[in-house]
Amino acid sequence: MCLIGECEGEPCGVVWFRKGRSGVWETSVNLSPAFRGRKLSAPMLAAALSWMRERRDAKYFSTEIQDTNIASIKMFERCGFVYVHPSPGFGTYCTGLK
Ligand SMILES: CC(C)(COP(=O)(O)OP(=O)(O)OC[C@H]1O[C@@H](n2cnc3c(N)ncnc32)[C@H](O)[C@@H]1OP(=O)(O)O)[C@@H](O)C(=O)NCCC(=O)NCCS
Repeated sequence: MCLIGECEGEPCGVVWFRKGRSGVWETSVNLSPAFRGRKLSAPMLAAALSWMRERRDAKYFSTEIQDTNIASIKMFERCGFVYVHPSPGFGTYCTGLK
């Protein structure tokens, strides 16, 4: 499933969701290069997560992020994801866990 974000009336990025094992939705985000550097991704992701919670009854989300991708780590942490698991060069982050 793919949700498209809009900014100033233009499509600015996408948030992908894929339902994995145990009902956990794997999530990834791509902001159009023209819209990067303005901290737009966290509110776009937050809106997409709300949509999924309300319309798809989604409770658990996860993502893998490259250790060097600081902007992405900040975006997911600002949306409530927490670091749960390392793998070489990457970390797994989840939300919805207690
Ligand atoms: C990751 C992405 C969504 C972030 O977009 P964005 O909202 O425009 O992010 P910004 O550039 O505004 O940066 C957000 C924060 O990260 C910091 N940051 C950005 N690049 C950085 C870098 N190279 N090193 C350290 N910090 C960095 C910014 O300073 C900012 O910090 P602050 O909010 O504390 O001031 C966007 O860069 C993107 O689409 N990248 C390609 C796809 C991708 O990597 N997706 C994520 C994996 S699923």
